[in-house]
Amino acid sequence: MSRARAAIILAAGQGTRMKSDLPKVLHPVGGRAILDWAIAAAAGTGAERVIAVVAARRPQVREHAAKALGAGNVVVQDLPLGTAHAVRAAQAALAGFSGDVVVLYADAPLVRAQTLQALFAARNDSGLAVLAFRAADPAGYGRLVVDEQGRLIRIVEEKDASEAERRIDLCNSGVLCADAGVLFKLLSMVKNDNAKGEYYLTDIIGLGRSAGFASAVVSASETEVLGVNSRVDLARAEAAFQHRARIAAMEAGVTLIDPSTVYFSHDTQIASDVVIEPNVYFGLGVTIAKGVRIKAFCHIEGAEIGEDANVGPFARLRPGTTLGAGVKIGNFVEVKNASFGPRAQASHLAYIGDAEIGARANLGAGTITCNYDGFSKYRTLIGEDAFIGSDTSLVAPVKVGARAYTGTGSVITKDVPDGALGVARGRQHNIEGWADANRAKKRKAKDEA
Ligand code: UD1
Ligand code: MG
Repeated sequence: MSRARAAIILAAGQGTRMKSDLPKVLHPVGGRAILDWAIAAAAGTGAERVIAVVAARRPQVREHAAKALGAGNVVVQDLPLGTAHAVRAAQAALAGFSGDVVVLYADAPLVRAQTLQALFAARNDSGLAVLAFRAADPAGYGRLVVDEQGRLIRIVEEKDASEAERRIDLCNSGVLCADAGVLFKLLSMVKNDNAKGEYYLTDIIGLGRSAGFASAVVSASETEVLGVNSRVDLARAEAAFQHRARIAAMEAGVTLIDPSTVYFSHDTQIASDVVIEPNVYFGLGVTIAKGVRIKAFCHIEGAEIGEDANVGPFARLRPGTTLGAGVKIGNFVEVKNASFGPRAQASHLAYIGDAEIGARANLGAGTITCNYDGFSKYRTLIGEDAFIGSDTSLVAPVKVGARAYTGTGSVITKDVPDGALGVARGRQHNIEGWADANRAKKRKAKDEA
């Protein structure tokens, strides 16, 4: 049987370099708060307990974590006295837990569950396990000091390192794993007699070695362990997420004609044999079935798109959109909180909000649902096989029956029965010769002036 697992996520840092009223760990990457990435990675290892350590002066982080984890799994570190002090703040919350604990930073959104699995596995063969990386520029990081056999001796922080140690490029990511009992025992021995006067979590490696616990080293790429401290880091993390999402989509059978111009959210779900043309943005909550084509320049969020549907170019699908199989949404069509039955279409220039469109109905160019009177929203119902003439305004609440037509240019304020034609516009009236006579009269008046 494998050992029980828990995670402690450190989120009590300052995060002032974001220059933001929003705490840095609540900024989104791929549409999900940075903190939630850490929580998801921890959960992805099968951890039965996930504890977040937050600062007293950041109530927003505390509330966010409590919502995600339950209030009993959020602990406050009263003062920021260092990473070891922060982990100790979680000790009481984990009372009674026995098994392995992984410590994560809340500001590192790209660490994958599979990497943490490798860390837990390495811990099994050893006393502790540390996630390390080779830094292009190691400045600022803790360095891993190893012996001639490559075994980890200790981690030394930049400010406490000798000149020789500073030349080491194998750096501490901050993520480590240990048996819970061993972890808290070693933490109780950590002192703050160092350059920063802080309790360093990293000291447990050296202390562990003295106590007979070896530390394994697991490597990750520098990108995977990237910590977000500034808006520039945030953009880097976003780019790394997008790169991953594009590769994952293509590996799952999605064609991206120009991958670097397609933007995903963490929860975008796309089936195989979907083709996505350049310059498409997927916000939160998008699900796309097989065989769909998303043409260039679409903005899509909160939408479920059925098999073989065709969307765009230049379409906007807003939350609450459901498109049935074979639906066609063409250029400059906006859809919000509306469902389209199978093979219904709105091919050009339309706004369809708070509506239900029956199967095979055809909405002509310029169809507008007038769904809002400044106070409330109202629904428009359109029956199967209905044909909405171009430039029809549908003043909701209103219903157009199955197989019904509306006359081009109509302002439909009353229900149209099944199979009927609804026309609501001024009748055309031609006055023979009027234009020619008018032109002659005006020209003469001007010449005489
Ligand atoms: C830490 C590591 C360093 C590593 C680096 C990687 C220590 C002593 N050093 O250094 O070896 O290379 O991260 O980025 O662990 N935090 C708290 N409470 C505190 C202090 C920190 O919750 O009292 C949290 C922060 O929110 C952050 C994390 O711990 O998520 C790391 O803290 P930070 O101050 O950035 O540590 P570094 O000095 O960068
Ligand atoms: Mg840091």
